[in-house]
Amino acid sequence: MGKPFAGKCSPEVWFGILISFILCFLLLLFDYPNTFSRVNNGVSLFESTQTHPIGIVNNQSNSVINQSTTDSCSGRYVFIHDDLPAKFNYDLLNNCESLTEGSNMPNMCPYIKNFGFGPEINNSEGVLSNKRWFSTNQFSLELIFHNKMKQYECLTNNSAQASAIYIPIYVGLEDSQHLWDPNLTARDSFGEDFSKWVSRRSEWKKMWGRDHFFVSGRVAFDYRRKTDNISDWGSKLRVLPESKNMTMLAIEASSRKNDIAIPYPTGFHPAKDSEVFQWQNKVRKQERPYLFAFVGAPRPDHPNSPRGKLFDQCRASSTCKVLNCHSSGINCEDTVTVMRVFQRSVYCLQPTGDTFTRKSAFDSFLAGCIPVFFHPASAYNQYLWHLPKNHSMYSVFIPVSEVKDLEDGSIEKTLLGISKDKELAMREEVIRLIPKLVYGDPRSRLGTQDAFDIAVNKILERIENVRKVIRQGRDPSIGFAEKDGNKFLFPEELY
Ligand SMILES: *[C@@H]1O[C@H](CO)[C@@H](O)[C@H](O)[C@H]1NC(C)=O
Ligand SMILES: *[C@@H]1O[C@H](CO)[C@@H](O)[C@H](O)[C@H]1NC(C)=O
Ligand SMILES: *[C@@H]1O[C@H](CO)[C@@H](O)[C@H](O)[C@H]1NC(C)=O
Ligand SMILES: *[C@@H]1O[C@H](CO)[C@@H](O)[C@H](O)[C@H]1NC(C)=O
Ligand SMILES: *[C@@H]1O[C@H](CO)[C@@H](O)[C@H](O)[C@H]1NC(C)=O
Ligand SMILES: *[C@@H]1O[C@H](CO)[C@@H](O)[C@H](O)[C@H]1NC(C)=O
Ligand SMILES: *[C@@H]1O[C@H](CO)[C@@H](O)[C@H](O)[C@H]1NC(C)=O
Ligand SMILES: *[C@@H]1O[C@H](CO)[C@@H](O)[C@H](O)[C@H]1NC(C)=O
Repeated sequence: MGKPFAGKCSPEVWFGILISFILCFLLLLFDYPNTFSRVNNGVSLFESTQTHPIGIVNNQSNSVINQSTTDSCSGRYVFIHDDLPAKFNYDLLNNCESLTEGSNMPNMCPYIKNFGFGPEINNSEGVLSNKRWFSTNQFSLELIFHNKMKQYECLTNNSAQASAIYIPIYVGLEDSQHLWDPNLTARDSFGEDFSKWVSRRSEWKKMWGRDHFFVSGRVAFDYRRKTDNISDWGSKLRVLPESKNMTMLAIEASSRKNDIAIPYPTGFHPAKDSEVFQWQNKVRKQERPYLFAFVGAPRPDHPNSPRGKLFDQCRASSTCKVLNCHSSGINCEDTVTVMRVFQRSVYCLQPTGDTFTRKSAFDSFLAGCIPVFFHPASAYNQYLWHLPKNHSMYSVFIPVSEVKDLEDGSIEKTLLGISKDKELAMREEVIRLIPKLVYGDPRSRLGTQDAFDIAVNKILERIENVRKVIRQGRDPSIGFAEKDGNKFLFPEELY
């Protein structure tokens, strides 16, 4: 701060400088009224409040003195825990053949290519656009997120400068090796080793892990085993004391506030805005001969799942297209197969599956097909950062508390009752959401924020709120507790 004020100055000059300062301050007040109200506002919850530009300096004296040189990354710096031992991430990729051994999931090796997007789809038969479509595995989010984070514009190697600490651990890839393992030690040791490792780093003590986050390509339920009965599902990773202090972004959240859902990765990974516009125009102009479609597998083991009824209702309707993923010759992992149906349908049924959410819901958005949900935890209680609060703008809700109440023909009747204007408005909203729900090519940035950009801004905002609570001497654990108001059930209670 020496330079501009060096040299001998008369009192008049000093007075002039003082006036400029005051003017500057007033101007700033005009420009950024939020900055100042935010400083004084108490923080009641850690759910994000409003969207304000992140990176505005919220230290008044700093922003006045240093306005012209304000660092655009201020408040947005992220430190990546790159010293994480390879056994927590890269070793898993090197052992990709064995990751899904003994499970019903495909070999992951092809899917780790291309930043985790998987193999490029070349022959799209006119169903997809010519470029930027991949056979992306629905469990690849942690890998994709890490690769995008490596290109984030505000990385720092100085953890003291960081607003958030990101741990590039591949919890889902590891978990998938042991989900069916009766040996609980084998299921839990990874999480225990990780908790020990991370809590012994110097970064931990600053906020006891409450500024740390990691990403999971699997649902949060997979890490919340309640008992040590081997027939209970999953590992204990998220119930360990260290893990409780961190925030996890996953494809499906739990009822805890520090499990936050962000979109499943789909097959579209654009690198340019023009590729997004082209795709939006294609689905906007698409002819949609089917009123509704259902693509899925039955769940005969879950008598309370609505899927059986959906198959019946779809087959009984002349305007419904059904694809049973368990029929021979139908491969629902094939993006072209699914997108061909979704693009030709006005509405796409998105019931719960093994858990509340499905990747299929995001395929539906991509195809411009208005999703029909049957449970609030399939989207509305989940993707709060990425989907509009008012779900009637982009979807149809047919609540099913008792599957037996789902009367024959009721879905077609409900959908036929929706006006053409309302349908068009919903489809336009679905199409508008596309760029926010995709994970773009890490080597470039889109003009609008993609799913990753939104997630990073929101996690920074969340951690800033935690920091404020700590500064005010209040208990930060409130932001890591059970969700209130927005509570939803655990999957086991569904069936
Ligand atoms: C604001 O910045 C000043 C000067 O850099 C510093 O002394 C002070 O601790 C900062 N206050 C807060 C709340 O960060
Ligand atoms: C102003 O910001 C620049 C860039 O972030 C920094 O190097 C410099 O030390 C700051 N000056 C003051 C007085 O804070
Ligand atoms: C698609 O084309 C690329 C480049 O020509 C090639 O490397 C890749 O193997 C092809 N993918 C498939 C699924 O055929
Ligand atoms: C952090 O350090 C590594 C290794 O020294 C270097 O390659 C990288 O560019 C640095 N990153 C930043 C953001 O300074
Ligand atoms: C269970 O797994 C642990 C860790 O992988 C291993 O050390 C132990 O021998 C296993 N126990 C049995 C009974 O297989
Ligand atoms: C473990 O769970 C199974 C299935 O829910 C149950 O039948 C069994 O009694 C449980 N065992 C113990 C020790 O609680
Ligand atoms: C979790 O955070 C609280 C402070 O909010 C701290 O007292 C506790 O020790 C932390 N847990 C661990 C395991 O570090
Ligand atoms: C939600 O959106 C619908 C459809 O656009 C609209 O009719 C309704 O008024 C909105 N509700 C609220 C609370 O904004």
